[in-house]
Amino acid sequence: MAETETAPSCTLVIFGATGDLTRRLLMPALRNLRRDKLLPEDFAIVGIASRALGDNGFRDHLRKGMEQFKGGTGPADIDWFLERSRYLSGKFEAPETYRALAGLLPADRNVMFYLATPPSEFAVIAGQLGRAGLLTEGAGAWRRLIIEKPFGHDLPSAVALNKEILSVAREEQVFRIDHYLGKETVQNILVFRFANGFVEPLWNRDHIDHVQITVAETVGVEQRGKFYDTTGALRDMVPNHLFQLLTLIAMEPPSCFAADAMRSEKAKVLDAARSFGAKDAHRNVVRAQYGAGNIGGETVVPYRQAPDVPHNSTTETYVAMKLGIDNWRWVGVPFYLRTGKALARRRTEITIQFKQAPLALFRDTPVERLPFNDLTLHIQPDEGVTLGFGVKIPGPTVRIDGVDMKFRYEDAFQAMPSTGYETLIYDCMIGDASLFQRADTIEAGWRVMQPVLDAWKQEAAPELPVYRAGSAGPEEADALLGSDGRRWRPIAGNGNGGA
Ligand code: BG6
Repeated sequence: MAETETAPSCTLVIFGATGDLTRRLLMPALRNLRRDKLLPEDFAIVGIASRALGDNGFRDHLRKGMEQFKGGTGPADIDWFLERSRYLSGKFEAPETYRALAGLLPADRNVMFYLATPPSEFAVIAGQLGRAGLLTEGAGAWRRLIIEKPFGHDLPSAVALNKEILSVAREEQVFRIDHYLGKETVQNILVFRFANGFVEPLWNRDHIDHVQITVAETVGVEQRGKFYDTTGALRDMVPNHLFQLLTLIAMEPPSCFAADAMRSEKAKVLDAARSFGAKDAHRNVVRAQYGAGNIGGETVVPYRQAPDVPHNSTTETYVAMKLGIDNWRWVGVPFYLRTGKALARRRTEITIQFKQAPLALFRDTPVERLPFNDLTLHIQPDEGVTLGFGVKIPGPTVRIDGVDMKFRYEDAFQAMPSTGYETLIYDCMIGDASLFQRADTIEAGWRVMQPVLDAWKQEAAPELPVYRAGSAGPEEADALLGSDGRRWRPIAGNGNGGA
């Protein structure tokens, strides 16, 4: 980002400014942008929350957060932000909050409104901003709305929320965040696919056997029980983060890298996803919950004993599924997706498993099985790319072994640390929506998963498989691939997937 231009003058208004997101992610990201000289000199922050703090109280709060969650150039830049920060205490549903806000925002000022609040507030705040005229773009200034996830909790609620927001703002003013799109390695998927001539001829059903997308986390539900128990792994991760990875892998090359061209191609992938019938929802989707276990030497209590989680909860903390994409490029190639909490290792990766060589040329030699060629994009941690292929083991007979060719980001680049939010905030300031979700792409993601949510709703008291915390997930997820004669890539160590 070092050669990128400084963003235009603007004010960032943060709703929920005293919350966790501001402290953990937004402020470190802003400090990194300042470090890279990408923030304008007259940048300003207005924090809004219900707490009665006043400007100085808010500045103390920000200072403490910045000392705890680092970013930027260290303590030197903290004062720069504090001098530019104001605070408004008020209720999100009260028109007077917005009247007071209007007093701080001249009509010719560019403004980003960041909704870092619980999702139930999104429509309320957008509606009030609209009614107060704060989203009206006059005097050559822009007004933009950044909305965090989760965007809706199913298809009807996402459609309703889009409708509410688009009744007060134009689509071009709305920036729906999926923080996976801020990750360098996620953006690299497009570069890998479309900047390398050797990739495209192989990237289709003629050469690819199947694709695996894994987002494994070691963290459990921690202190988020209240939110998580009404959400679950599917809603929390699949229609957003996993589908972002899926669409970047499966989309057609866009006509150009403009926001709408890219987002239209992504939407087409989800439109081509084979719908889950009621039977598929059970046959092709596995859900499970973590039980007791041990991760990195720490004892983990079962999900049902986590704070704010009911003892009889049937919320899934793990989900795995098989998805088909019925288009010319992908028909017949299964996409296996899995994500879960309290697993053995933190690992987000995408594996493209290529078909085996067409002819068993080495059948008369002591070769039991030819190795597969697989390409793995390591999204996090250990960011990089691995290509697995077969080589001859040195010796008088032809014996073949599978080896890996590895590229690791940290070996090649001395990149400065970033949270992923830097790119997203900067892109919003310059008006580039490529890395944000459009209304139809959000709805397309929910549309694919809605039949599964409906099928699950039919079951009054489902018996969820339980997997050991610190394992690779439930056996049922292994069986999902096993019945197709396939196996998950190992999550930890050298063993294959499975509990
Ligand atoms: C969030 C989910 O959107 O993404 C969390 O709500 C999850 O449950 C997190 O832990 C994962 O993000 P990352 O960047 O750590 O992979």
